[in-house]
Amino acid sequence: MESLSGKTVLITGSTDGLGKLTARRFAARGAFVLLHGRDASKGKTVLDEISKETGDGNLEYYNADLSSLDEVRSIAKSILSRHEKLDILINNAGLGGGPRGNATREVSGDGYELRFAVNYLSHFLLTYALLPIIKAAAPSRIINVSSIGQHPLDFNDLMLEKNYDSFRAYRQSKLAQVMFTIDLANELSGTGVVVNCLHPATLMNTNMVHEFFGSTMSTVENGADALEYVATSAEAAGITGAYFNQKRQSKANGQAYDTVARRKLREITLRLTKLDGPKVIQ
Ligand SMILES: NC(=O)c1ccc[n+]([C@@H]2O[C@H](COP(=O)([O-])OP(=O)(O)OC[C@H]3O[C@@H](n4cnc5c(N)ncnc54)[C@H](OP(=O)(O)O)[C@@H]3O)[C@@H](O)[C@H]2O)c1
Repeated sequence: MESLSGKTVLITGSTDGLGKLTARRFAARGAFVLLHGRDASKGKTVLDEISKETGDGNLEYYNADLSSLDEVRSIAKSILSRHEKLDILINNAGLGGGPRGNATREVSGDGYELRFAVNYLSHFLLTYALLPIIKAAAPSRIINVSSIGQHPLDFNDLMLEKNYDSFRAYRQSKLAQVMFTIDLANELSGTGVVVNCLHPATLMNTNMVHEFFGSTMSTVENGADALEYVATSAEAAGITGAYFNQKRQSKANGQAYDTVARRKLREITLRLTKLDGPKVIQ
């Protein structure tokens, strides 16, 4: 594998599962890795583990619960104050369906449907906040870790107040990430920043799968192979606006290609994240 020495990478949700393994692999390849999690002591343990493996100091940990947009703004500010360029942003952190059978609708600190907020809104805000240093690093890459599990968004019930189901909530957030990928890739065309999303692997042996499905079909290594390919391979370097099913470019749910639906989602998202004025974080 090609060295990532000199590259700075941020991986959200790198305290466990796919994000943690990917952080470990990128650190082993020489990248400066910015870890992120929501539990500072778990974050410290992961940072210590990886620094022991690599033996260098090219690691930092940022703490933010992504269910709070203020916490997202706050880590973005810390990252911007310490780094002038970000070569690879991996929006990976995610909340799955939760314990199976749990029908209680959950909301974020900002009052939005929780999975929509954590999996999608927070990453939308984080990405725009970090865009100046991502553009400064061009050629650079943004990767949204989505899923093959995608459910069309109902704009009359986007926060699932009428028809709540935690797995539907998860799947609509994953499709929202695909829609964001396509729009952002169009917006950044010609800047040297490519934007792609992927389904890493099906039912990997991670916490979210154990909690909701109780059985697994693949390993976190399978998912990390696909993520590493989309994030660092020469083949994927010239591709933008794509949805990968593991390493293969593939078709997402039809709503992703509906320009009216994407515009609607974007308008709502800009309002919810307060990015509808100039796209600078306050
Ligand atoms: N597992 C699969 O089969 C599968 C399939 C398709 C797509 N994916 C996607 O792959 C990504 C990684 O999932 P995984 O399977 O590795 O899951 P995981 O092992 O449960 O890890 C999820 C990561 O996200 C963090 N996280 C969760 N809620 C958060 C919040 N509110 N604020 C900040 N961080 C939060 C977790 O922190 P803690 O360490 O504190 O829990 C953890 O670091 C997700 O986006 C998921 O949708 C997974």
